[in-house]
Amino acid sequence: MSKYELGAFVEPLCSWYEKNKREMPWRDQGGAYEVWISEIMLQQTRIEAVKAYYDRFLKRLPDLKSLAHVPEEELLKLWQGLGYYNRARNLQKAALKVEEEFGGQLPADYEALKSLPGIGNYTAGAIASIAYRIPAPAVDGNVMRVTMRLLACYDDIMKEKNRREMEKSLMEVMPKDKPGEFNQAWMELGEVICIPNGAPLCHKCPLKDLCQARAKEVQLELPLKPAKKERRQEKRTLLIFRQGDLVAIQKRPDQGLLASMWEFPALEGHRTKKSLVEAYGPEAINKGSDYKHIFSHVEWQMKSYILDFSPQDVERLQEDFPRLKWAKTTELRDVYPIPTAFQVFLKDL
Ligand code: ADE
Repeated sequence: MSKYELGAFVEPLCSWYEKNKREMPWRDQGGAYEVWISEIMLQQTRIEAVKAYYDRFLKRLPDLKSLAHVPEEELLKLWQGLGYYNRARNLQKAALKVEEEFGGQLPADYEALKSLPGIGNYTAGAIASIAYRIPAPAVDGNVMRVTMRLLACYDDIMKEKNRREMEKSLMEVMPKDKPGEFNQAWMELGEVICIPNGAPLCHKCPLKDLCQARAKEVQLELPLKPAKKERRQEKRTLLIFRQGDLVAIQKRPDQGLLASMWEFPALEGHRTKKSLVEAYGPEAINKGSDYKHIFSHVEWQMKSYILDFSPQDVERLQEDFPRLKWAKTTELRDVYPIPTAFQVFLKDL
């Protein structure tokens, strides 16, 4: 016996999906590579936002071989704005492994897919079921939210054990001739009707008469939310060094937050204009934008200054900031991967 009893929902859910599924560039015509790329992009990003990234990415990297061999900087530039850049790095690591171990074809096997960097249960299940029609579960946050509401169940959806139980329960009711449609039907219902953050659109739901949360009027309580962790707050002062039409950037370390991306040099804390003039002696100094950027575990409260220098001062600056690289503003846009956290400051230039 499975823990979650889902049998009654399957037929109405699948009929609804058949009639109402949205068009997506990777749906129906996509091969395993296309499904993989889309699923990785969709992990932390909304569908509408993903589409443009997906098209550009596939134009430049149309197959696994091109992904395996693209220079990292170019890969990160293609990913710029999507965030969580390890996803892009893992894509490339996985592509290299597929070349070495699977003859250049993403394996049509759930366990083999899971052996690849960045591919966990959800992504392996999505690729296997959508691209290869292999019955395999693909449980994401949508599936957990929808099912917890349908069953009026207060289980903790972040617990691995409950996700595993959900995988087992879904496998028991999955129509074996259309596993991809079945998996996507749950996601789709969660994305367009049984939505997170706010009231679900129950009046449009194909499962409304079967939904126990609706019967008990507890939709808004479910799924149970785990207590949020406090976010660390960091004050930073960004220094936009300019010399003529060149701007100084530096590469972040290859580990940790925004690894290997390019940034403006920064100091801890909020500094005054006066202290910066004393420390660096620019020819001119002007206040730039202020901006707060929220990451999952930390929040950066950034103030910025634009400091102009003459060519002979640049060497001195390089002593304080040995990793500076001077780039044209057009290169900041077209060449260097610069995360969203710094994009507002580009507008000041
Ligand atoms: N969210 C993530 N992947 C999806 C897919 N294939 N269909 C619908 N929603 C999704």
